[in-house]
Amino acid sequence: MNIYDVHFLFDDETIAPVTVKAAEGETILEICEENDIHLNHNCGGVCACTTCHIYIEAGMENLPEMSDKEEDYVDRAINPRIESRLGCQCRVLGPVTVRIPDQGLIIGHEH
Ligand code: FES
Repeated sequence: MNIYDVHFLFDDETIAPVTVKAAEGETILEICEENDIHLNHNCGGVCACTTCHIYIEAGMENLPEMSDKEEDYVDRAINPRIESRLGCQCRVLGPVTVRIPDQGLIIGHEH
């Protein structure tokens, strides 16, 4: 199984950037959970909400293409950008750099 570096940056500047290892095929949401990185996931990771919204700062080519359903939810997320994705839908197929939005701004967030 291939293992890749996943770099995390945070809009919340109180959290330091971190690099973790991830197995090919894991989702960004799963990688966050394994590494105690807080990323909301109100629908439980089934592409039915916007709370796992993330930005891919590098390595978009190492993720599967966005489905129409994912695109639909991304459009409804807070501050969507061209590099927006849903963390639960991004299976890593190579190294990526992920920016986590400030989780305190998300309605329904829990710590
Ligand atoms: S957790 Fe709801 S879409 Fe990802």
